[in-house]
Amino acid sequence: MKTLNLIGAGKLGQTLARLWQQQGLFRIQQVLTLSPESAQKACNFINGSHNADLAQAATSFEALIPADVWLLATPDGIIEDSAARLHGQPELLKPESIVFHCSGTLGSNILIGGQSSASSVASIHPIHSFASPAKSLDAFSGSYCGYEGGDMALQTLLPAFSAIGAELFEIDGRQKTLYHAASVMACNYLVGLMDASLACFEAAGVSRSQAQQLLLPITHQTLDNALKKSPEEALTGPISRGDLSTVQSHLDKLQPLSNQLSDIYRSLGQQTVQVAEQQEQPASSESLDAIRSLLANRQNPL
Ligand SMILES: NC(=O)c1ccc[n+]([C@@H]2O[C@H](COP(=O)([O-])OP(=O)(O)OC[C@H]3O[C@@H](n4cnc5c(N)ncnc54)[C@H](OP(=O)(O)O)[C@@H]3O)[C@@H](O)[C@H]2O)c1
Repeated sequence: MKTLNLIGAGKLGQTLARLWQQQGLFRIQQVLTLSPESAQKACNFINGSHNADLAQAATSFEALIPADVWLLATPDGIIEDSAARLHGQPELLKPESIVFHCSGTLGSNILIGGQSSASSVASIHPIHSFASPAKSLDAFSGSYCGYEGGDMALQTLLPAFSAIGAELFEIDGRQKTLYHAASVMACNYLVGLMDASLACFEAAGVSRSQAQQLLLPITHQTLDNALKKSPEEALTGPISRGDLSTVQSHLDKLQPLSNQLSDIYRSLGQQTVQVAEQQEQPASSESLDAIRSLLANRQNPL
């Protein structure tokens, strides 16, 4: 069985290592984190109830021994430095050793150096929120994971991820930052958008908790339509109908309330006009053009 050393063993590192250890896919050999205490805690989690001589805490880079596979699961800002430190100790890496990380935004190319060629490095990004390792042990299976990297690395890593339930799909390493921005818009900014909507409801005299309740069915339905069908099929409302005066009235109320809320409305409204233009029976191009200019102009004079 291939050995795996883990540099950085937080939420993601502990979960993956425990799943691989449990299923006999890799032998987790050493764990290095910032503090010996957290490395030991991570080893206890990874080893579970097994008392065998499984994962061992390492106290420093100098205490590491060679391994077949290296997972660098530190915060993103430290991955490149960790790789450089690894390459600084050539005895730790053989030409057939694999080095990978799980960042959503960095490519695998940052891992190349020393003994590691493009063929032996990879990045595999799970689209999964590892908020609690204990919960992720059960919840990880079925998670989509975007991968890119060298043939030799992927030959070992893809089966290991598949075996713990990952749904793998290939991404272009050169476009990883855009791929990550896309996920951030869909997930993190959706939260920001919900907050903006709740702020408007509150200003209209509807409490946040009541607004949360009333938004739940309609937002679920909209999301379902947009993702299972298409944005064009999901779109309803004033922009879809080409209703300029309603959009104007919204802006008249939003502008004095908050520049930020009105900017969000304008910016997403312009994207929405683009969707409206693609609908099967679009509103007239005159009305959509008028709405687009209204939304693009912060002064919105009529
Ligand atoms: N969390 C997620 O939901 C998620 C999802 C997809 C991808 N990822 C990716 O997974 C990677 C790890 O994220 P995470 O959320 O698991 O991070 P995390 O919970 O913050 O854990 C980071 C780990 O790195 C260790 N560390 C920090 N600096 C170090 C250094 N200089 N040398 C060695 N170890 C160091 C920390 O040690 P201490 O414990 O001693 O502080 C900790 O064990 C990142 O690339 C992230 O983008 C995370």
